[in-house]
Amino acid sequence: PHPVLIAPSLLAADFTRLGEEVRAVEAAGADWLHLDIMDGHFVPNISFGPALVRALRPLSRMPFDVHLMIAPADPYLAAFAEAGADLISVHPEAGPHLHRSLQTIRALGKKAGVVLNPATPVESVAHVLDLVDLILVMAVNPGFGGQSFLDSQLSKIATLRGMIEASGRPIHLQVDGGVTARTAPLCIAAGADVLVAGTAVFGAADRAAAVAAVRGGAA
Ligand code: DX5
Ligand code: ZN
Repeated sequence: PHPVLIAPSLLAADFTRLGEEVRAVEAAGADWLHLDIMDGHFVPNISFGPALVRALRPLSRMPFDVHLMIAPADPYLAAFAEAGADLISVHPEAGPHLHRSLQTIRALGKKAGVVLNPATPVESVAHVLDLVDLILVMAVNPGFGGQSFLDSQLSKIATLRGMIEASGRPIHLQVDGGVTARTAPLCIAAGADVLVAGTAVFGAADRAAAVAAVRGGAA
C-alpha cells in the first residue's frame, strides 16, 4: 500500500570518507539520508553536529532526515534547520515541551518528527498529530548502531499505523534500529513506510544490493 523509503544512517558509514559514503548510498538508490545527532547526555554516545550536516548538504539531493538525540533540543533546532535539515525529529523525553519543539521546527519551515523509544507509549504522540509529519519508532534503545531489533516494537508500529490512518494526515511511519533484510518485512507488514538502516547498508560492500534487500525487492 505505501511505497517504502530507505534512509541509510550515516552513523555506520566510514567516517574517513563521509562525502563519498553519502554519494555512494544515493547512487545505490537510497531515498533519504538519516543523520543521528548524539550529545553524550541524552544518550550514552557522541556523534556529530550541525557543522557536518552543513558540510554534506551540497553533496546530495536526498532529503536530510535529522534524528536529534540531544537534550534539550530546542536551542539547536535553528542550527540544524540552517545547516540543511529537511526533517527534524525529537524525543518527547528530551523536553521540556514537545509541542513547543514541534511548533518551532514547523516555524523554521521544516518537517517535524516525534521519536518513540522502546518503552515510550504511543500516547506520547496522540495529542500532537496535527503538528507531526513523521513518527519514528525506535526498535533499539538509542545511542548505538548495530544493535538487535526488538520484536516488541512491531505491535507499536501497527497501533501507530492505525492512529495515522484515523488522523487522515499524511504522516510517515519510520522504524530505526536493527533494520535488516530479515526485519524490514516485519516492519513493512506492521505498517512502516520509511526504514532507517545503518549497518545493513553501510556495512555491505554492495550498497545497491543492500538498499534493495532492505526495501524488499531484488537487487
Ligand atoms: C541509534 C540510531 C540509529 C542507528 C541505526 O541510536 O538512531 O539510527 O544508527 O543503526 P543500525 O541500523 O545499525 O541498527
Ligand atoms: Zn536514528
